[in-house]
Amino acid sequence: MSEKKISSSSTAEYFSKNLQQVGFSSQTKAVLTTLKEAVDNALDACEEHDILPELKVEIERLGPGSIKNSERIRVLVIDNGPGIDAEDLPKVFGEYLASSKFGRGRCTRGQQGIGISAATTWAQMTCAQGAKVISKTKAMRKAVSAIVEVDIKNNKGLMKKRETIDWDRPHGTSVEFIFDGRIQINGEAGIMNYLLGTTLVNPHVTLHYQLPDQEVTTIERVSNDIPHIPDATDPHPHTMKLGEFISHSHLFGRVKVSAWLKKGFSRISDQVIDEMIKVKENGLNKALFDKNVDQLANPEFTKIFAAIQNTELKAPSTSSVLSIGEDSLSKSVLRLGEVDFFSVVSRKPTICDFKPVQVEVAIARLRQKNMEADSPVQLLRFANRVPLQFDKSACAIAQAITTVNWRAYGLGQPKDSMPQGPYIFAVSVVSPFIKFKNASKETIDASDELVEEIRRTLMQAGQKLSRYIKAEDKANDLEEKLRYIEQFGPILVDGLARITGAKEDQKKRAREGLMKLLGRDTTSAEKELSTANQKLAIQVAKTAEAE
Ligand SMILES: Nc1ncnc2c1ncn2[C@@H]1O[C@H](COP(=O)(O)OP(=O)(O)OP(=O)(O)O)[C@@H](O)[C@H]1O
Ligand SMILES: [Mg+2]
Repeated sequence: MSEKKISSSSTAEYFSKNLQQVGFSSQTKAVLTTLKEAVDNALDACEEHDILPELKVEIERLGPGSIKNSERIRVLVIDNGPGIDAEDLPKVFGEYLASSKFGRGRCTRGQQGIGISAATTWAQMTCAQGAKVISKTKAMRKAVSAIVEVDIKNNKGLMKKRETIDWDRPHGTSVEFIFDGRIQINGEAGIMNYLLGTTLVNPHVTLHYQLPDQEVTTIERVSNDIPHIPDATDPHPHTMKLGEFISHSHLFGRVKVSAWLKKGFSRISDQVIDEMIKVKENGLNKALFDKNVDQLANPEFTKIFAAIQNTELKAPSTSSVLSIGEDSLSKSVLRLGEVDFFSVVSRKPTICDFKPVQVEVAIARLRQKNMEADSPVQLLRFANRVPLQFDKSACAIAQAITTVNWRAYGLGQPKDSMPQGPYIFAVSVVSPFIKFKNASKETIDASDELVEEIRRTLMQAGQKLSRYIKAEDKANDLEEKLRYIEQFGPILVDGLARITGAKEDQKKRAREGLMKLLGRDTTSAEKELSTANQKLAIQVAKTAEAE
C-alpha cells in the first residue's frame, strides 16, 4: 500500500483557497462582490416575504489595508426584510452550501448558498474579523447582534459577541464587513453601475446609498408592485441526465412508475406513456409502468429514460419565469439620469435549450452625457435581475448585441462591434436555470438559441428606437436647410433688388416675407404678443371695475 494517506477537506476549506472562483479575484472585485452578495440576499428575502424593499448601503474607506496597494474598506447593507432567526445566523453567514433557495428551480438571485459566506471568509482572511450582523424578525421584541465567522476546518459558522440590543426597526437585517479591497466608483465595473443597474431592473426598490466623501443619495421606487417569483415547474425529462432521473425517483417512495412519471415531470401524460408502449420494435412493456418505482433496477430505469428521450414531448412550460414588465421598466429607465428618449421591449417568455427564459431590453439615450459620439454605448447586463459587470466579451448578451446591424436603426457601429453613442443598453435575462460560465455568475453562457432570442429582442427595441432617431434626423435636416436659406436669402434679395432697381421699402418687404416663410418672423410674433398683452390688460381692468 502507498505511504500517502488520503484525506478530505471541508467545503469551506475549498472555497477559502479558491475565493477567486466566487468573485474575489481582485481588490476591486472584492468590494463589488461583497456589496452584491449582501444586496442580492436582501432583495431576495424581501421578495419572498412580500415586502417592498428599502435598502441602505454605506461604503467607506477606513485607511490602508494589510495587503499591498489595498485599502481597508467598510461595506454596510441594511434591509427591511423579514430578518433572520438568531440560531440561523451562523448557517447563513458562516457555513457554505447552506441556503433556502438551493436547487429550487426558481428565478431567485441567489441559488447556491455560497455568496455571503464567501464575503465573510474574505473579511476574515484579510482583516481577521467576520461579518457583523444585526437582525430582527417580527416575532422578536429586541434584535440580536453578533459577529459571525467561518470555522474553515469544519465548514461551520461561529457566533461571537452575541448580544440582545434595541433596534429601531420592526424587522430587518444589517450586515457589515470590514476587509481589504479597492473602491472603483465609475466605469463598467464600478459601484455606480452596479447601484444604478440594480435600481433599473428592480423598479420597486428604494435605495439610500452613501459612497466615500459623498452625501447620502436616495433613489426612490417607481413601482409599488412587489414582484412575485413564480413557483418552480416540475423538471422536464429532456433536460435531465440518467443519474438525475434515477435520483429523482427516490423522492417518490412506493408509487407506480406511471404515477411517478406523470407526477414528477412536466409534459408526461397517459398519452405519452401509451406512445412509449406502442413504438414498433422497441416499445416498452406495459407491465413496466405498473411496477413500483422503488423496485426498478438500473437497466429498467435506463430503458425508460431512453424511451422518453426518443419520444417527442411538448417544450417545458414558461410559467416559472418572472418578468419586469414594460411599464415598470419604462418608469425605471428615467432613474438612469437625464434621458432624452428610450425604448423598452419585454419579449414573451420562451424556451431556449429546453429552459424557460425571458429577455427584456431597455435602450435609453442620455441628454447630458459627456460621452463622445464615437465611444461604445454603455452596456448594463443582468441575469435574474442582478447586474453582471465582468468578462463582457464572452457573454451571450454582448455577443447578441454585436450581431445586430445597428446602423439600420440610425446608430453608429464599426463592423462586428458594439454600437456607439450616448446610449445605455440594458439587457435582462431571467430564467430559473441560467447557465453561467463560472461559479461567480459573471457571464451568461452564449448558446446559439439564447443569443438568437436576445438578438430578436434587441432588434425590436432597435426598431422602436429608430422612429425617434429618424424623426430627430428629419428635424435636424430641416433646421439645417432653414439656416442656409436664412443665411443666403437676404443676399439673394439684395441681388434681385439691385437688378430690378427695387426701392428700399420693397426690399424690406421682400426680406420680411422671406423670414415669415421660414417661420423666423420675430417682429410679427412680438407684435402679436404685445397686442394680446394689451387685450389682456384691458380685460383685467374691466373685471376689476365690475367687482
Ligand atoms: N438579508 C437577509 N434576510 C433574510 N434572509 C437572508 C438574508 N441573507 C441571507 N439570508 C438567508 O441565508 C441563505 C444563505 O445566503 P447565501 O447568500 O449564502 O446563499 P443564497 O443567496 O441562497 O445563494 P448564493 O450563494 O447564490 O448567493 C439564503 O438562502 C437566505 O435564506
Ligand atoms: Mg446570496
